[in-house]
Amino acid sequence: MTILTIKTVPFADQKPGTSGLRKRVSVYSQPNYVENFVQSIFDSLEGFDGKTLVIGGDGRYYNDVAIQKAIRIAAANGFGKVLVGQNGLLSTPAASHVIRHHKAFGGLVLSASHNPGGPEGDFGIKYNIGNGGPAPERITDAVFARTKQIDSYKTNDAPDVALDQIGLHRSGGMVVEVIDPVADYAALMQTLFDFPAIRALFASGFTMTFDAMHAVTGPYAHAILEGLLGAPKGTVINGTPSPDFGNGHPDPNLVYCKDMYDLLMTPEGPDFGAASDGDGDRNLIIGKNRFVTPSDSLALLAANAHLAPGYKAGIAGIARSMPTSAAADRVAEKLGIEMHETPTGWKFFGNLLDAGRVTICGEESAGTGSNHVREKDGLWAVLLWLNILAVRKQGVDEIVREHWAIYGRNYYTRHDYEEVDAAVAGKLVDELRAQLPSLPGKTFGDDLQIAYADDFTYHDPVDGSTSAKQGIRIGFTDGSRIVLRLSGTGTVGATLRLYLERYEAAGGRHDLETQLALEPLIALADELAGIKQRTGRLEPSVIT
Ligand code: G1P
Ligand code: ZN
Repeated sequence: MTILTIKTVPFADQKPGTSGLRKRVSVYSQPNYVENFVQSIFDSLEGFDGKTLVIGGDGRYYNDVAIQKAIRIAAANGFGKVLVGQNGLLSTPAASHVIRHHKAFGGLVLSASHNPGGPEGDFGIKYNIGNGGPAPERITDAVFARTKQIDSYKTNDAPDVALDQIGLHRSGGMVVEVIDPVADYAALMQTLFDFPAIRALFASGFTMTFDAMHAVTGPYAHAILEGLLGAPKGTVINGTPSPDFGNGHPDPNLVYCKDMYDLLMTPEGPDFGAASDGDGDRNLIIGKNRFVTPSDSLALLAANAHLAPGYKAGIAGIARSMPTSAAADRVAEKLGIEMHETPTGWKFFGNLLDAGRVTICGEESAGTGSNHVREKDGLWAVLLWLNILAVRKQGVDEIVREHWAIYGRNYYTRHDYEEVDAAVAGKLVDELRAQLPSLPGKTFGDDLQIAYADDFTYHDPVDGSTSAKQGIRIGFTDGSRIVLRLSGTGTVGATLRLYLERYEAAGGRHDLETQLALEPLIALADELAGIKQRTGRLEPSVIT
């Protein structure tokens, strides 16, 4: 086996976004594209000689090719060992756990999350550090800088590793251990949740559908829900990972899980419905006749976490991304614990979790998680919900309504305008930003008075770093908010995200249809930002 140094030239477009470098497969499959990026990651790290690297992905098209390349580059760069999930599979939260559990130096997570897969779809690579979480900006910035300079990468001429065979293999001088992707994760879940209580719930006739969306959570859900928890066979649907996600879009929202939603709204449907995305970090929660928004789910899970053994001592604090509704803030206030508002993206939660300042985190984009790993975790959220249902012996709808009766309701929606011309979107944001200083104090309609208007800047209380320009916030005196930002995960054009929120206190009307309840804010957002007129779009592409 020989270590080879191969000459290369930089690619100009390898800037990691909200969650790693996501590009079309056609971009990733250019000669040296993966190699340049992986070598640039390793060039930006120090002290990994002889250490362990975890590699796993969501099984999407190109995973197998990219993993073999990454293994060779890791071997040639001096890693001592690679831990890789069988067939290259590891859900993102499982990868985070494997990094932590095996005290690895870091890991490569190969996924484009909920984006479609297949030859025409997307692919992605993300580097996670030793705490199991996404690399902080200090590292991703260094990686990007390196991608612009790189002139060679190291690899070897070893044959492909047989990733279907669990056990020890080699790539040159480096050990490659192929592991069961589910085992460590399933063991962790059993330390957090009351499995006997959930098993008893299923035994009592409680019914559930879990849609794995032909993606990575299939094997995890089969093993945990139908295996350890005794849910009937057939509870998990679309449970076999496929490279193109069954030609679907593995995004667990009301658009792509509409059939399940419709079923949950009928008397014949199951008691509970859930789904997870391509790489297993997002979740969708639907009870009978009740969709739970991710923002509400965060608040509810935080308020009820003590019912699960892993959190019985209570939670230290809660963090949410800025665009996520303030429902969780009210829970934190009642519990007398810390509440943090961070920029979009899970990487900002890592420091707070490491410092023990928060236990539960969430984003409006269907991401919820806790200090058990350093990624959001779809199945974790589903299991915590099941644990709560088993202990409270109430349905989802009843639990949600009781929550609103205590804390009030934050009506909430997100409108996405996808694949908008990048220049048009950039100008729209710039011009809205320019208006911000003049907005506070202005009143619109009968009662919408602007209390503040800014471009969110985050000051990390743990490491003191600052992240500016994280999205435009327009806050009103009644607690309503309009938030607008550009997506950092899109692969084509720009995606404009508009987030709207209105608070209705305990005792108020909690049964309005969401879009209706938010109508005045939706209209005002368009008036201020000129979205329809500038983009030429009359409707958002997706409403969640
Ligand atoms: C989106 C979500 C964000 C999430 C990220 C990765 O990022 O909005 O909450 O952390 O995907 O799953 P965005 O495209 O908005 O930058
Ligand atoms: Zn994901």
